[in-house]
Amino acid sequence: MTVTIVGSQLGDEGKGGIVDLYGDDVDVVARYQGGDNAGHTVVHEGEEYKLSLVPSGAIRGKVGVLGNGCVVNPRTLFDEIDTLQERGLDPDVRIAERAHVILPFHRVLDGIEEELKSETDDEVGTTGRGIGPTYEDKAGRRGVRVGDLLDPDVLRERLEYVVPQKRAVVEDVYDLDVDELDDPDAFDVDAIFEEFREFGRRFEAEDMTVNAGAFLSATIDEGQNVMLEGAQGTIIDIDHGNYPYVTSSNPTAGGAATGTGLSPGVVGDGEVIGIVKAYLTRVGSGPLPTELGGVVGDTPGYDEQGEGENEELANYIREEGGEYGTVTGRPRRVGWLDLPMLRHSTRVSGFTGIAINHLDVLAGLDEVKVGHTYTLDGEELASMPATTEQWKRCEANFKSFDGWPEVDWADAADGGYDALPENAKGYVEYIESELDTPAYAIGVGPGRGETIVREQPF
Ligand code: GDP
Ligand code: IMO
Ligand code: MG
Repeated sequence: MTVTIVGSQLGDEGKGGIVDLYGDDVDVVARYQGGDNAGHTVVHEGEEYKLSLVPSGAIRGKVGVLGNGCVVNPRTLFDEIDTLQERGLDPDVRIAERAHVILPFHRVLDGIEEELKSETDDEVGTTGRGIGPTYEDKAGRRGVRVGDLLDPDVLRERLEYVVPQKRAVVEDVYDLDVDELDDPDAFDVDAIFEEFREFGRRFEAEDMTVNAGAFLSATIDEGQNVMLEGAQGTIIDIDHGNYPYVTSSNPTAGGAATGTGLSPGVVGDGEVIGIVKAYLTRVGSGPLPTELGGVVGDTPGYDEQGEGENEELANYIREEGGEYGTVTGRPRRVGWLDLPMLRHSTRVSGFTGIAINHLDVLAGLDEVKVGHTYTLDGEELASMPATTEQWKRCEANFKSFDGWPEVDWADAADGGYDALPENAKGYVEYIESELDTPAYAIGVGPGRGETIVREQPF
């Protein structure tokens, strides 16, 4: 069977930790979308691993698959594999032949477009990894796929078609001189061919490429368990998120089918677990109705560091939760939990269970708030509106909870759900009841031992 892990908010909900938590019963962990924009943290035997591409199960020796819905930068992939090997692990990673390759010019174009948009404060705040430009070329039918790296003739033919176009975009659309860019080789067919053909040889030598759909289906037919590890989160999904402040793939459960080659029936027969952070964080631009304070450069219209109670709270939560980007190191924007957002995510992916993380971070506050509903143009909304312009105008109607005390969280986790402070349980039960979905796991710290497991999905 499959268990699909989906971020219910804006990414960084603690997906890596939950993949790890349920990892013992898993044979294969497959990523289905995104690329090295992801940063998933797994804490294993006191060691912290931050993974961008290698699926989180690889830390415990499971087979990791990068599905066809992923975009793969082989430079990052091999760096990550080599670093894990230096740390004594031996990750077994297979890459879908149908996955698209992030080429050097994709990163450069990501940077140029963000820079241009920033002149009018319209930048998305991307991770700069070339994700959007690579998916653009995939949809534009001019991309290079992992399978193409294995065939020199095909690779050269594809590069000879696409690279001159990108050069022309830089020169004629953006009015820049390619030779004056930091990395002019990013637009040189021969340089890209040499480097990426070499990656192809390594893929071949290490037998790393697979037909992901066929491989995963066979795994399931043999009775093995497959975890589908989403990256990013529902509100930065290109279809169901707050467009255009989104990533360019589908982190929601539908993406788990298209991005692996497993049928929707197979994914739907399994469990779909929504990962919920007990408050909100966001890296990058876009609205956030329950935001506390703001981050200059990312929060729209917040040009100067403010003062006051909300800023203090945001700083407190940011420091307690270590809320700085895994990939870029940027301070994350912070807000109260947003229920209209979670109701939307639950519907889009059909969560059969949720995992609520970071309850420990809120401990010690006198009061914990949640955005229970929104008001838009005098009307109360229980879920998110479809356009970002409407979402921006939504005002959150807050519900207040009495806080819970700081306790020894490892002890509390040992004691199980009943050992949680009463008010923390009240908070969990409110979320479960509003989403009509049981909490399978509750995170009270970053380690595996600091998670209360109430349900084993496999
Ligand atoms: P992902 O992208 O969804 O996998 O999440 P990240 O790894 O980017 O960010 C989550 C961060 O929170 C990591 O540093 C985790 O180790 C940490 N974390 C996960 N669950 C908990 C929890 O319940 N409590 C605390 N304090 N930290 C957690
Ligand atoms: P994980 O898997 C949080 C955000 C970026 C930006 C937007 C588009 O660790 O949860 P992109 O580089 O994808 O084109 O950027 O999406 N973003 C993430 N935010 N967690 C992530 O991944 C993210 N991946 C992308 O900050 O706002
Ligand atoms: Mg992350």
